[in-house]
Amino acid sequence: MKTAVLEKFKELFGDTDGVSVYFAPGRVNLIGEHTDYNGGHVFPCALTIGTYAAARKRTDRKLHFYSMNFEKLGIIESSLEDLTPSAEAGWTNYPKGVIWAFAGRGMAMDCGLDIVISGNIPNGSGLSSSASLEVLTGYLLRDQYGFDVTNIDLAQIGQYSENHFNGMNCGIMDQFASAMGRKDHAIFLDTADLSYEYAPLKLQGAKIIVTNSNVKHSLVNSAYNERRSECEKALEELRTVIDIHGLGDMSEEQFEAHKSAIRSEIRQKRAKHAVYENRRTIRAVEALKADNIGLFGELMNASHVSLRDDYEVSCDEIDILVEEAWKIDGVIGSRITGGGFGGCTVSIVSDGAVDRFRTEVGAAYRRRTGKTADFYVVEIGDGPAKL
Ligand code: GLA
Repeated sequence: MKTAVLEKFKELFGDTDGVSVYFAPGRVNLIGEHTDYNGGHVFPCALTIGTYAAARKRTDRKLHFYSMNFEKLGIIESSLEDLTPSAEAGWTNYPKGVIWAFAGRGMAMDCGLDIVISGNIPNGSGLSSSASLEVLTGYLLRDQYGFDVTNIDLAQIGQYSENHFNGMNCGIMDQFASAMGRKDHAIFLDTADLSYEYAPLKLQGAKIIVTNSNVKHSLVNSAYNERRSECEKALEELRTVIDIHGLGDMSEEQFEAHKSAIRSEIRQKRAKHAVYENRRTIRAVEALKADNIGLFGELMNASHVSLRDDYEVSCDEIDILVEEAWKIDGVIGSRITGGGFGGCTVSIVSDGAVDRFRTEVGAAYRRRTGKTADFYVVEIGDGPAKL
């Protein structure tokens, strides 16, 4: 990948003198879904796949972006004078949003950039290609312009740009996982105060398999933003009867005792998911630490049921992948991962069952949906790097 972005850079911009190459990973979340904007816990890990960039400062104020994933679009030109989102800017709204967010924090670039990007995260898979692009941009800006920011700042700047430049009201999980990843560890993050802990992934002879449904339903961002506002409204209603900051503060018992304050059945279901999922995440990490991988898997399965029935962010294709996975001996747990409405599932599968998993889930998916799923036995990698 490094050679490929450098060669493309040379082809487009003449030479590679003074060019640096960077990488930022995508992520998969093991458990703790739709809890990150509710002050709850998440348990994601960075992948070894992600987004690469070759970049070099310019002497003028122009910005030249090129993506090897969207070659037909050619070089997309912009400038530091034009940091506003637009439909024509397409994918470059992500790096531009980050440049804009840095400038808003008093870290304005004094000259433009030429950037060539290439990513190996499957498009639209829900493995956070956009967060990896945001973290990558922040990381390279820090290196090129000497901005004084930590990796956690990079995650927050990425999230801010996605919320305020790109109109997606996401939480901090994806950017945090990309910016703070550690090889063979998952990150147990409390989104209420950003305290975190690395947990070694001792899977006792099992692999993490990501299955891509290759389905991406439309209106994902608006449905996501709607879930988020339903939770905010439910929190407001609960706060009339109990003193809490976020849904993540509540135990299941407290929720059951006070849920009648939420005056719509839909919002009750949404809040129930947020509260119970947060508790499941805490228990899952305890189970992993205690080498109880079986319990970890059961909690993953319960997470899926809750996302399907109470939070309603699954879809038929994903439910089929999960149901078929559950049928296979050697599958420890399987659930939807990420924002939902398509994308991927994550499964923990004993080594001996990996081949059967691919064959049987793949065949059943084809038979039941007419579509093809892709399977990746993923490796857990480090955060961003200059290569
Ligand atoms: C998307 C968002 C994250 C998180 C997940 C759901 O990936 O970007 O912030 O809310 O959905 O857990």
